[in-house]
Amino acid sequence: QTQLRGDQVIVVSNREPYIHDRTPTGITVRRPASGLVTAVEPVMRACSGTWIAHGGGTADRENVDAQDRVAVPPGHPDYQLRRIWLTEEEERGYYYGFANEGLWPLCHVAHVRPVFRESDWLQYQAVNQRFADAVVQEARGEDPVVLVQDYHFALLPAMIRARLPRATILTFWHIPWPNPESFSICPWRREILQGMLGSTILGFHTRFHCKNFMETVDRLLEARIEPEHATITYGGAESLIESYPISIEWPTPQTVASWAPVPQCREAVLQRLQLPPQTRLGVGVDRFDYTKGILERFHAVERLLEKYPEWRGRFVFVQVAAPTRSDLEEYQSFQDRIQRVTQRINRRFGQPGYEPVMLLATHHEHEAVNELFRASDFCAVTSLHDGMNLVCKEFVAARDDERGVLILSRFAGAARELREALIVNPYHVEETADAMHRALLMPEPEQRERMASLRTTVQEHNVYRWAGLMLADAGRLRLRDRIQARV
Ligand code: G6P
Repeated sequence: QTQLRGDQVIVVSNREPYIHDRTPTGITVRRPASGLVTAVEPVMRACSGTWIAHGGGTADRENVDAQDRVAVPPGHPDYQLRRIWLTEEEERGYYYGFANEGLWPLCHVAHVRPVFRESDWLQYQAVNQRFADAVVQEARGEDPVVLVQDYHFALLPAMIRARLPRATILTFWHIPWPNPESFSICPWRREILQGMLGSTILGFHTRFHCKNFMETVDRLLEARIEPEHATITYGGAESLIESYPISIEWPTPQTVASWAPVPQCREAVLQRLQLPPQTRLGVGVDRFDYTKGILERFHAVERLLEKYPEWRGRFVFVQVAAPTRSDLEEYQSFQDRIQRVTQRINRRFGQPGYEPVMLLATHHEHEAVNELFRASDFCAVTSLHDGMNLVCKEFVAARDDERGVLILSRFAGAARELREALIVNPYHVEETADAMHRALLMPEPEQRERMASLRTTVQEHNVYRWAGLMLADAGRLRLRDRIQARV
């Protein structure tokens, strides 16, 4: 980061890090459930700058200056947040439509059909243009460092490049990139790739996603691809295609000192959920999204109780599912289906005063989730496909007692780093059920050994390292461009 000292940093993402809502008692501030926000926010606090995002809260507008900016975090501001206000039509086409009914299922390959509508595509283009205008307005010089986040902004890099040719544009794609065959069903596949290739650096979580991207470009554009240098040259400009595994901010000793001891967390959680003191707990924490494998996870809980009856009456699985994108039919029907499966399993294995699956379908703040992590015997992250997944890293960070077991999908990017987890194929219900049984029986020394090793990995490969590696590459390329400009 030292190589960028003095340079202006602008971040662009759809989701804002602080949502201000109006309630009868005044304005409240909420942190959204988003892996992207979890990762990028600490980086912004460290390097200040400006974050441009869609304003979604009911009181967001009440809180800004004449330029629509607000200083955040509330109470001890470190950087500027600039909100972009979208019309309902723009939000429907760009966010719900093209981004979340088109690109999201297209890239996740979770067996939900992508929907591509001409009208959504028009809004997607228009909104990307509006964010490009905002970046140009915010730029103080000719060559800011712009961090473009995620699939909402595939067209933005080339739009910025056209107006600020000397900008250093770092685009990070937070979701998987599929193989060329899967991607090619997108009617605007070339435009998407051309937009992304406006980036100086294009980052993915894993090498596998980089490889898929390079193969896709190879198939669809006339570009020069040099896998040995990890570069693509298109239209005379070169982009570096690199993997940067994203992570979390490792908790400071002061934060850890503020946490209640694990036995106290257990007691508090069990009491709140009205469960007997000896209950064994499994936990899942996700956005209520069809890619997260919640259905398959519940089937595994059902199989666990069927195959290992000793857990009936003694084990409870608590699922926090933060509602998300609920305007979309696909999400509503998924959420209804999960409710029905929960009721069915609870009818089948429940007894008076005992329900094996507890579905808490509301947003939970970080502190509540942390307490739940500390109270549980295992955490199940069984995504059908996930760019990285940060819930598993947060679970590991929460367990300073070196206890608790992580069950992790092999289809989450995190499985490539967190090798001491119990790695499962979420589509294989039997395997996941057996992993849950094994987690509940795992001797303490094995738990410690696995958790200690996981903790070292996450602590070292934290989010500052993610940003540091990317910004160091950006610094190197900026220097190279400046030297070349002199000759
Ligand atoms: C994923 C995406 C993020 C997004 C988050 C929450 O992590 O990669 O860009 O912010 O989901 O989804 P939402 O639609 O609520 O912002």
